[in-house]
Amino acid sequence: MPFDVAAEVIANRPLSSDFNVLALAAPAIAGLAAPGQFVMVKPGAGLDPLLRRPFSIFEVLRDAGGAPTGITILSRRIGTSTSLIYDARPGQHLACLGPLGRPFTRVDTPTEAWMVAGGVGLAPFATLAESLRTRGVRCTLFYGARRAAELFFLDVFRALGVELVLTTEDGSLGEPGLIIAPLDRRLAARAPSSSVMIYACGPEGMLAATARIAAAHGRPCEVSVERIMACGLGGCYSCVVPMRGADGQAHHVRSCLAGPVLAADQIVWD
Ligand SMILES: Cc1cc2nc3c(=O)[nH]c(=O)nc-3n(C[C@H](O)[C@H](O)[C@H](O)COP(=O)(O)OP(=O)(O)OC[C@H]3O[C@@H](n4cnc5c(N)ncnc54)[C@H](O)[C@@H]3O)c2cc1C
Ligand code: FES
Repeated sequence: MPFDVAAEVIANRPLSSDFNVLALAAPAIAGLAAPGQFVMVKPGAGLDPLLRRPFSIFEVLRDAGGAPTGITILSRRIGTSTSLIYDARPGQHLACLGPLGRPFTRVDTPTEAWMVAGGVGLAPFATLAESLRTRGVRCTLFYGARRAAELFFLDVFRALGVELVLTTEDGSLGEPGLIIAPLDRRLAARAPSSSVMIYACGPEGMLAATARIAAAHGRPCEVSVERIMACGLGGCYSCVVPMRGADGQAHHVRSCLAGPVLAADQIVWD
């Protein structure tokens, strides 16, 4: 069962003029959270915004004894709620519901984990990488952004022992271009007998391309989809994704309940 709490803002760290990390005191949510799950957050007290917004759980905060104390979210400012989240001040309280949704399937060694992140799609991979590295799983993060200044937390992933493959659209860091290019090349160079699980989160075009590349190389792939979500609880059907069932027929699933993590080869990509 998710918890609905008035979470106090512990800290707000701006990363750039559009990105920030908000730390929220929410021990109950933090204690249950699994990598890939999300929270529904309402940053304002009034009617605008009326509805909560979904955010991946970026980090689980712990006290000195290891007990969960809160979570952080990595937010990109694009509208009303994310602007309020960017401007939130310590001591303020935000309505926060979670953890919600289906998490990533965690693999075990010797299977390797290849995480593919586009922009703010990095958010679910900090907890996933931490959890997989604890199990001894080799991890690679394929991380693409528009420019070097929007590639965040590289030191955190390096400290976890995650190999980084970076791209920027303007060529200011890593390989110029989109992150799916090195993913495709590396999969092509990989012995078919070695086991690799691909996880992806980012813009839908990147998810579709990752799904196509994974299928072409015969690799399993889970994607975290970012549909507009009005309730996060299965009640409004704003978040449906077309999926192909075992019978081959397409049907719609609510990505807040069946996802946000879905099997890439079952999604009907446009
Ligand atoms: C499961 C899930 C996890 C997410 N995790 C994160 C995260 O960790 N960090 C983060 O920054 N964002 C994340 N998002 C996206 C985030 O929910 C939206 O950016 C947020 O709802 C925008 O709210 P707003 O009020 O600022 O913008 P609005 O004023 O509501 O919208 C501004 C513009 O953005 C468009 N928009 C709104 N939501 C989405 C969306 N989900 N996809 C595409 N376009 C959208 C609107 O149509 C509008 O054009 C996630 C979304 C989902 C479904
Ligand atoms: S967000 Fe309401 S049903 Fe999924």
